[in-house]
Amino acid sequence: MTTISLDVSSILIDRIGAHGLDPKALNETLAALETYNKDLAQKPYPFMKLPETRFQFHEMKALAEQIKQRGIKNLVLLGIGGSSLGTETIFHALLHPFHNHTTDFRKDAPRYFILDNIDPHKINSIIETISPDIDKTLLVVISKSGETPETISQFMIFKALMEKSGNDFKERIILITDKDKGLLNKIAREEGYAVLNVPEGIGGRFSVLTPVGLFPAAVMGLSIDGIMDGAQAMSAHVSGKVAAENMALLLAAIFYQMDKNGKSIHVVMPYCERLSGFADWFRQLEGESLGKGGFGPTPTKSVGVTDQHSQLQLYVDGPKDKCIMLLYSAQDSRRIPDAFPYLDDVAYLAGKDLRDLFNAEFQGTGLALTGAGTPNCTLLLEDVNAYTLGALFYLFEMVILYMGVLYRVNAFDQPGVEQGKIYTKAIMGKKGSENERAKIEALLSVQKTIITF
Ligand code: PA5
Repeated sequence: MTTISLDVSSILIDRIGAHGLDPKALNETLAALETYNKDLAQKPYPFMKLPETRFQFHEMKALAEQIKQRGIKNLVLLGIGGSSLGTETIFHALLHPFHNHTTDFRKDAPRYFILDNIDPHKINSIIETISPDIDKTLLVVISKSGETPETISQFMIFKALMEKSGNDFKERIILITDKDKGLLNKIAREEGYAVLNVPEGIGGRFSVLTPVGLFPAAVMGLSIDGIMDGAQAMSAHVSGKVAAENMALLLAAIFYQMDKNGKSIHVVMPYCERLSGFADWFRQLEGESLGKGGFGPTPTKSVGVTDQHSQLQLYVDGPKDKCIMLLYSAQDSRRIPDAFPYLDDVAYLAGKDLRDLFNAEFQGTGLALTGAGTPNCTLLLEDVNAYTLGALFYLFEMVILYMGVLYRVNAFDQPGVEQGKIYTKAIMGKKGSENERAKIEALLSVQKTIITF
């Protein structure tokens, strides 16, 4: 099986000096987490059972097969936050980067369009792009609550388009939502669309291993069994290993202790283009789960090598308020030909593999950070595939669960996000939000300081 390994040596005080962690403090946190982990095995959270139960796998595969038979050309996914980031991560990691450009790359899979924004420019552009084969378009609408205004408004626009696209349009609309609650449910019952569910007790950002992330993957012909096999193997690791050998416990303890030591900015920096989406997914998971009550780390993303020429100066030589997590994976190779044989200055590149340069840059970044005393750790992935991706999803969901315990917050709610949704509905004049509307008017009535160019 493909391996994932974690190197935490450049986190500790004896390696990087004053800004490193004291092993004693780290071990105390680890011991507390280890005790918690034993109790957790007796009463696991619903998302932890997914790798074993494989919720609605049969239904997902059957629906994906039906879609294939229909010769679907476009998959349009409506959803936001936890309802879209998992799919984006999977597609980014496992599909050809230019999947939509030609059938040479996507074979008989459809093109895909993920609408995680309501900027009318983007919506209009996508409508323009898919219109010629709207009759071969599949619409997948994902919302756990079934009430999110962004997703519902998109659905209203796309339903109107789909209605005109042929008598079979209802068979080309699939909703993924809570089993009992919410507007999407009501609409599905009223209009007769196929529905897959977000299982009970699993919120948006913990739902990638449910139909939310897996059904779109199945439609693209990706191995959802492979993803879950990786998640299941990671689940065995996390529940079975002692603290010092347990990636989830170790990462949670390190990130928490780092934040306590003033390293509250948490940089995730993949050296692997295919994991760039993973950094976005993690950013939401950590930010929305832990940013509560005036505390919580600030997750941010950089991509190697690109951001070496943008952010690395700051990470190496700026304020020591950051903890960097590097991820590395490189399988492909490309020989650098001796294109300028008369130039001695490029002889060190000629005939080498681009992968070796990529690896040298990754190592160079680690050394520069360590040399400057900036705490950093590295996750090495032998390969990026369905299995390793599933393992990563599960690993970091557990890391965030453990961090929630250390911060003493509910990692599963998002009151700040919900408040934004309430204000939006009130501003748009939703019935029943008159009180909110009055509050907003009071907030907006303050004297403004505006300058104009
Ligand atoms: O993680 C979360 O719970 C949120 O980011 C939600 O996924 C996001 O707000 C969208 O909500 P919903 O899936 O209910 O439309």
